[in-house]
Amino acid sequence: MKVLILLGSPRRGGNSETVAEAVKRGVEAVGGEVESVHLNDLQMRPCQACGGCSKTGRCILKDEMEPLYGKCDDADRIILVSPVYFYGLSAQAKIFGDRMQAQWARRYLCRERFRRGEGRRGYLVSTAATKGERLFESAILTTRYIFDAMEVEYAGEFLVRGVEEKKAVLQQEGVLDRAELFGREVGE
Ligand SMILES: Cc1cc2nc3c(=O)[nH]c(=O)nc-3n(C[C@H](O)[C@H](O)[C@H](O)COP(=O)(O)O)c2cc1C
Repeated sequence: MKVLILLGSPRRGGNSETVAEAVKRGVEAVGGEVESVHLNDLQMRPCQACGGCSKTGRCILKDEMEPLYGKCDDADRIILVSPVYFYGLSAQAKIFGDRMQAQWARRYLCRERFRRGEGRRGYLVSTAATKGERLFESAILTTRYIFDAMEVEYAGEFLVRGVEEKKAVLQQEGVLDRAELFGREVGE
């Protein structure tokens, strides 16, 4: 099982990455093969809405997003990891998602179906400082549609509220154990 973890926070070693590391341990414990990518390290431009992908299903921008299309196609499971920024995904995660417009065009305009029926699944891991009931609604909805464009079934999320400072998640008892368990479920 190939699992791709896309880290959307610019803060290295922060809450979402700490949770993602625990998820990774869980995936690996059940034999999954994990590759992690820090989106903030990539030089990638936002979607230019040029329509260039409409006919080909391929993005015309040539930058460090390019290899990610192939990595996403290869993965059996994709985990998008993002802190909540202004009630949505981080800019890094959103740029990744918007660039998946090329996959949306591939699927819905070019009618090129991809690994249909192979049960590819996608997940969201997210952390946020506050605790409101609707805190993750926007991030979940956006992530669902990003995965839909990629012909990946949205299969669930692991969310942590009330973590603001860099390592705050370490103070919440049991969170990393639960994240590891979540990783096991993803990897099985
Ligand atoms: C630009 C910015 C916007 C944020 N917006 C929100 C928000 O709308 N709601 C919230 O609860 N936390 C918000 N936060 C806090 C982060 O979501 C929280 O600290 C998270 O755990 C950070 O994860 P990280 O350590 O992986 O970067 C924001 C933080 C930043 C830097």
